[in-house]
Amino acid sequence: MTKTIKIYIAGHRGMVGSAIWRALEAKGYNKLVGKTSKELDLRNKEAVEAFFDQEKPDVVIDAAARVGGILANNNYPYQFLMENMQIQNNLIDSSLSTDVQKFIFLGSSCIYPKLAPQPLKEEYLLTGPLEPTNEWYAIAKITGVKACEAIRKQFGKDYISLMPTNLYGTHDNFDLNTSHVLPAMMRKFHEAKENGNTAVELWGSGTPKREFLFVEDLADAVVYSLENKFQDNLYNVGTGTDLTIKELAELIQKTVGHTGEIKWDSSKPDGTPRKLMDVSKMEQAGWKAKVGLEEGITRTYEWFLENQETFKQVKL
Ligand SMILES: NC(=O)c1ccc[n+]([C@@H]2O[C@H](COP(=O)([O-])OP(=O)(O)OC[C@H]3O[C@@H](n4cnc5c(N)ncnc54)[C@H](OP(=O)(O)O)[C@@H]3O)[C@@H](O)[C@H]2O)c1
Repeated sequence: MTKTIKIYIAGHRGMVGSAIWRALEAKGYNKLVGKTSKELDLRNKEAVEAFFDQEKPDVVIDAAARVGGILANNNYPYQFLMENMQIQNNLIDSSLSTDVQKFIFLGSSCIYPKLAPQPLKEEYLLTGPLEPTNEWYAIAKITGVKACEAIRKQFGKDYISLMPTNLYGTHDNFDLNTSHVLPAMMRKFHEAKENGNTAVELWGSGTPKREFLFVEDLADAVVYSLENKFQDNLYNVGTGTDLTIKELAELIQKTVGHTGEIKWDSSKPDGTPRKLMDVSKMEQAGWKAKVGLEEGITRTYEWFLENQETFKQVKL
């Protein structure tokens, strides 16, 4: 892959998109294109078509999406379904019609059935009902995976889908109304520490098991999949190891230095009991995660401390 190919990173200011941008820049790719949602609303088909006609990218990486935690998914099902489909449909269709050679679609592990066997293999897609709290988002993502697969099958183009597990890291969303579990915990522990080590209340029972991947590891996987041609359409990206939410809370508490009590509010939903990716397909393709959870949480907390004033707010 020559370093002068034009790569459009949709969602380049987000946690994932910005990590991909930095990773590509670090590898010497020097024709990177990005537009903010204000400059180019990806829900707008005509605007997206005009942008592709003008820019003619060689490669498109789709890291643009409306994302959020259980609360946001529950409150805004229509936006999570429709906006995500609009964004990815416009990107995929414009890529096909302007002859983009490589398209990397980023989905999420929530595409797999709620009670699928663990660890989750790519072949479990569409074998059972989804987790109801985020099914809207998951259905949108499944249509994206299938669109890329259809293009691959019908036109023979190198369009692939990467399904990252739960991500965390620098540039994460720390807004408690819309954030995922790890950054939400980090902020709660930090604020409780600042307030004299008051008790921290966390959602659920603490027993579900989850897997977490450092966002820079995902960016590395995206660069790897750009530079290598994969045999298939769908690949999980994760670490292949998980821990309970309680263990995660204790690790973050230790990193932050909070010494107060942790209270579990078991009236709040837990979500899927366990979510661990089978990452053997990606490993066979030659890629493996490198950053351990303790190191990743420490690096994330350092970033949090440096950037507390500038946390973005997701508007709904
Ligand atoms: N975060 C995770 O734990 C996680 C886990 C698995 C998969 N993923 C996947 O990774 C991808 C990116 O997630 P993220 O965590 O980086 O999200 P994020 O930080 O919220 O970033 C999302 C990006 O999408 C852009 N965007 C949203 N709506 C748009 C619109 N209508 N028009 C143009 N751009 C729009 C935003 O642009 P502006 O900033 O310009 O508004 C933003 O840069 C998603 O596909 C998600 O499913 C994330």
